[in-house]
Amino acid sequence: MLKTVICVSGGGTNLQAVIDGIARGTINNVQIVRVISNNKKAYALERAAQAGIDAVCVSPRDYEDREQFNEAFLKKVEEADPDLIVLAGFLVVIPPQLIRRYENRIINIHPSLIPSFCGKGYYGLKVHEAALTRGVKVTGATVHFVDEGTDTGPILMQKAVAVESGDTPESLQRRVMEEAEWVILPACLDLIAAGKVTVAKGQAHIAE
Ligand code: GAR
Repeated sequence: MLKTVICVSGGGTNLQAVIDGIARGTINNVQIVRVISNNKKAYALERAAQAGIDAVCVSPRDYEDREQFNEAFLKKVEEADPDLIVLAGFLVVIPPQLIRRYENRIINIHPSLIPSFCGKGYYGLKVHEAALTRGVKVTGATVHFVDEGTDTGPILMQKAVAVESGDTPESLQRRVMEEAEWVILPACLDLIAAGKVTVAKGQAHIAE
């Protein structure tokens, strides 16, 4: 069993896709041992509760400085003793000590085809706004390993999604979620749990 901690900030539809994948058997040998949110009001916490998953909230607002938050966050992760950490719409910068301790064991889902529309300031709807402003005809989603940069780690899986005329940031976000995010995040978890994923020289590889 791949013990997995999932970190969330908002609606938690990617968390739900993983919960559903485990229930349906499209994700095998994965157990969600804890959900961590930085936001008490995140609907993702409700989804975790409905699925009977341990869920905790650690908000930077409740700590005097970043260092104290980082320590508290690290503690919440380590208590759960995960094999893998999944950032599923987690909008807080991950403490560097956590990234070092869990090297190649943290993945993130990003709603564009990296290296387009990623890095500092590109999250949630802003990504889709930028894609529409640029006028790209294809966008998509990326699952990548997390290193100390922002969206710079080894790419594990990507899926393209067509932009349609008349798209709004909201309609594009929804299509990218349905056609790409909720497909590739569960697929990556299944592959990692099956031991099929390796990282070498800054690149992720999937065994045949
Ligand atoms: C998702 O679109 C995810 O890709 C994005 O936030 C959304 C969370 O939705 N993540 C980022 O932008 C990270 N840079 P969800 O809470 O419904 O899964």
